Amino acid sequence: MSSDIELSWGRRYLMCRPTYFEVAYAINPWMGGVVDPDLAMTQWEALADAIRAAGGAVEEVAAQPALPDMVFTANSGIVDGARLIAGRMRHAERREEIRHVARWATDAGFTVEPLAQGAILEGLGDAIPLGEVLVVGHGARSNVEAHAELTRLTGRTVLPVRLEDPRWYHVDLTLCPLTERRAIVHLGAWSTGDAAAVMAHIPEPLVLEDHEAGSFAVNSVVVGSTVVMPACPPRVGRQLEAWGLDVVVVDVGEFIKAGGAVRCLTLPLDTTLSVAPRTLEPTMEAA
Ligand code: ARG
Repeated sequence: MSSDIELSWGRRYLMCRPTYFEVAYAINPWMGGVVDPDLAMTQWEALADAIRAAGGAVEEVAAQPALPDMVFTANSGIVDGARLIAGRMRHAERREEIRHVARWATDAGFTVEPLAQGAILEGLGDAIPLGEVLVVGHGARSNVEAHAELTRLTGRTVLPVRLEDPRWYHVDLTLCPLTERRAIVHLGAWSTGDAAAVMAHIPEPLVLEDHEAGSFAVNSVVVGSTVVMPACPPRVGRQLEAWGLDVVVVDVGEFIKAGGAVRCLTLPLDTTLSVAPRTLEPTMEAA
């Protein structure tokens, strides 16, 4: 990748084996159908293998009975260096997941930072680092109270994106940073004003059409110069290739039955959000 710089994160992920995965309730419009448990396990292992083959590391949090969506680790929180900012889920069906991931994080040496009362944040699934800013979804799942919390905890500028279309209920279904300058975006999911604010931070966007986004192509992970994708529409593949990125497609069809794909199944553990405190202006020396 000659003309661009790789992302500073995306080489270490937390995943949760689909031992108890099923579609047991419907909290997004994609949810439905019957999961084949063996196929889900095979697909999940293929995803973990693809991440490792691209040079990434995969760590595992133990699956818990009665928490079928715990496979979608991206929603449990967001990592800032050595701490995990714990998420809080909108739906009761998923709330218990956080406790288990927080315990894993403590055992793994992270400090766990809780969110203030009232804030809902569905983890990195709704808060994507993009250059110097953090693009945070709200409306469908996370709420605006979470924005103030993220600003307070990290000092980073939050760019809010309102998600109104129930199909695009997490921001990671609409934005995937590829490199320092490039990102895949599904602009159709955002208001004109929000789109303009985010696009100002993407010098070279790859804008998807609605039908391309429907393949979950945005919900991909980037490991160095490899993009691990649930699907890759032909035009998207040509552009990624022209940019010098390697595409690896992993079929995660069983998980799309629950409305999640590659990004949702992986929580990056190597993100840093905190802005370094500015050095104080030297005070005027006493005469
Ligand atoms: N069934 C899960 C839910 O609706 C899917 C989560 C997808 N995760 C994501 N990061 N987009 O909460």
